[in-house]
Formats: sequence, C-alpha cells, structure tokens
Amino acid sequence: MTDEKKIGILTSGGDAPGMNAVIRAVVRSGRAVGLRVIGIRSGYAGLIAGEAFELRDRDVAGIDRLGGTVLHTARCPEMYSDAGLRQAVERARALGLDGLVAVGGDGTFRGAEKLSRLGIPTVGIPATIDNDIPCTDYTIGFDTACNVALEAVDRLRDTSESHFRCSVVEVMGHTSGSLALNVAVACGAAAVLIPERPADLEKEVLSVIRENRRHHSIVVVAEGCSVRAADLAERILAETGVETRLTVLGHIQRGGTPTSMDRSFAALAGCRAVELLKSGAGDRVVCRRGGTVVDEDIRSALAREPVFDEALYDAFRAIRR
Ligand code: F6P
Repeated sequence: MTDEKKIGILTSGGDAPGMNAVIRAVVRSGRAVGLRVIGIRSGYAGLIAGEAFELRDRDVAGIDRLGGTVLHTARCPEMYSDAGLRQAVERARALGLDGLVAVGGDGTFRGAEKLSRLGIPTVGIPATIDNDIPCTDYTIGFDTACNVALEAVDRLRDTSESHFRCSVVEVMGHTSGSLALNVAVACGAAAVLIPERPADLEKEVLSVIRENRRHHSIVVVAEGCSVRAADLAERILAETGVETRLTVLGHIQRGGTPTSMDRSFAALAGCRAVELLKSGAGDRVVCRRGGTVVDEDIRSALAREPVFDEALYDAFRAIRR
C-alpha cells in the first residue's frame, strides 16, 4: 500500500464487549501510519448501503470503555447471495477502500473471506461472547461475558443457598459450551450441561442434586444443549422434590464495560490488522494462541475443527459436588 490509502472498519454479527476498543485501535494505529480510516455502520448491511464516514483520533476517544459497538452491527443474509456480495464489493470500491477490517464471529469471517477472494483485502478480528472460533484460543468479549454471567450467578447463589433451592441458569453461547463451562467452573456449579459432552441426566445432575438437598445446587445449562433449561428445571423438581428456580441470563451477558483482558487483546488485534493491511496483506485473520497474537490465512482458519477445553471439563468434574 502507498500513503494516504483508505481502510474501512465494520463490526458484524452479535455485538461483543471490546469491539469499541478494536475500533479505537484501528483508527489510531491506522492514522499513525498515514492511513485514512472509514467507519462503516451496521456491518456488511451498512457496507452494501454505503453508510460510511471518516473516523479521526478524537472521534474514538474514550470509546474503549464502552460495551456494544459505536458502529452498530447487524446480521446480513445478503452476504450469502451473489447479488449482495457484488453490491458489497462495488460499494467498497466506490468508497475507495484499499482494505477492510471486519470484527465479529464466524459468519463475519466467512463474509471477509468472500470479499478478499473478490479483490477487497480484508482482515478478520475475532469478537464474540461465544469463544467458538476454532482458529483462536480467545475471542474478544468472552472474558467480559464470563464475568457478567458469574456475577449474576453469584447473586443467584445467595438466594438459592438461603432457601436450600436449586438454581438452573441458562447461559448463551450459540452451539458452543465454552461460556457455560467457564462460568460453571468459576461459580462452583453442581452440574453443567454443554452440547460438546451430552450428560447422563440421572447420574450427573439429578443424583447430585439429591445429595445436595441440605445445601443448594447451581446447574449451568448452555443454550445450545438438546436439553432445554426450562424442561430440566421442571424435571429436577419432579424427580428430586428440590424446589427449583429457572433463570435465563439472555442478552445481559452481551452488555457491560469490557474487562482489561478484552480491551488489551482488542488493542493488540486492531494494531495487527492495520500492520497487515498496510503491508498489503489481506485474506488474514488475527488470532490469539498461547497468549500471543498471530495471524493466519483466512481459508485455513475457517477450515479448522472446533477445539474443546478438555482440561477445564476434567477440572470441573473433579471439583464439583
Ligand atoms: O453469538 C452471540 C450470541 O449472543 C449467541 O450466544 C446467541 O445464541 C446469539 O448471539 C443471540 O443472537 P441475537 O442477539 O440475534 O438474538
């Protein structure tokens, strides 16, 4: 890339705490190396519609402390059609974009891969509370979501303990149990249900709750499980006699002030994306592996198989009561 080139940045899919810290890092590090940075509103939908405006250093001051995304976000089915994709490419060209940073989850990366293939150098940055992108150990927003869910479960525990009740808590995560497992370990749950390891309900949930009847039990259920949390709560009451309450944490888990971990990885990832585009590389995703920021070809990243945290699951099973 030569000087005074323009790069775009968009956030796409479900918002995640830390997306704003990425935007700030891309704007500031991009401008520091002579790039103009164009913010695109509402993800790929905004790209197709041409909703774009220039971002300067002061425009992003202090946004790293904010949850959500100041650029707004959307899921964009048009990116799955040839016509929608063509419009996105034409619009990127009309905006004079020499590169694009796409911040989001798996679907966002798929869009980025298609744009790269059609000649718009695009770099993906992983941001989703689900932590479900195989090429990276970590996705921006996950730590904040874990802590928000943990605080909520700690509160539930106060009331659950007082009444010797069971609390069934449904957490997000789409088809992944990563959020549920991490929350279950951190909150000292009696049982966890995750899609990756279907449980024997009698052995791993009901009998544990019967044993705990003079105490309390927290059961964490990932939303992607085949067992619905509401059905499980009814079954626990029916088959153990323990009074049980259901709480669905829902979108509360997606909001709030990003943690230090989310802000710092966001800053590193934003800077790496700018370095890549500045050096003329597109078709890449930024990842974290073993605590280090790396980047990988977007196609090989998308071809990777999901990795399950077996050690954390074993630890959960060893310490739950
Ligand atoms: O991908 C993030 C996520 O919050 C998932 O955990 C959840 O399944 C989904 O998005 C909810 O999507 P929406 O905000 O569109 O209801």
